Amino acid sequence: MDKQLLERSLALVDLPDSGLTVRFYEILFDRYPTVRAMFGRDTSVQAAMLRSAVVSVVKHLDDAEWLTTTLHALGRRHAGLGVTRPMYTAVAECMIAAMSEIGGDSWTPAMTLAWDRALGAVATIMLDGYPDDGVVDIMPADRRKPGAA
Ligand code: HEM
Repeated sequence: MDKQLLERSLALVDLPDSGLTVRFYEILFDRYPTVRAMFGRDTSVQAAMLRSAVVSVVKHLDDAEWLTTTLHALGRRHAGLGVTRPMYTAVAECMIAAMSEIGGDSWTPAMTLAWDRALGAVATIMLDGYPDDGVVDIMPADRRKPGAA
């Protein structure tokens, strides 16, 4: 992965006042209104967490062990939230749309490609962390239906 290009492009769009993650949620909820209900009313706290997650991933791109451990755990929590594979594609699309909008003329197709690959890789590792049946069973074992997985 092109770490330098990812860092350079993130520095371009992630200025303190650029509102990158806030704009990302606006685009996401506009294009995919059905995911709105999954999030709390105030997405600004969530936006800050997503921003710091993306910054940490870019910082640790050369650290496969960190990526696997961190993103598997993050993936397991997202399985519990009901996040499905197509939602990762939607999130990547809207994140890149927000970046390219804020980057304006300085945003290049190579940056789009680098982020498409990076966010695709993040989604793959997070999905690898999902339990085998893809959902977390919240029913206590003694109350599960006989024969149910
Ligand atoms: C690039 C992939 C993603 C990253 C890095 C990411 C990162 C995070 C982080 C850091 C949190 C904070 C809570 C925690 O650490 O468990 C979180 C929560 C959450 N994420 Fe993600 N996420 C990603 C993809 C998605 C997708 C595809 C969806 C579904 C559309 C999603 C929905 C949520 C929801 C619903 C919460 C809880 C929000 C709340 O409590 O209001 N995430 N995510």
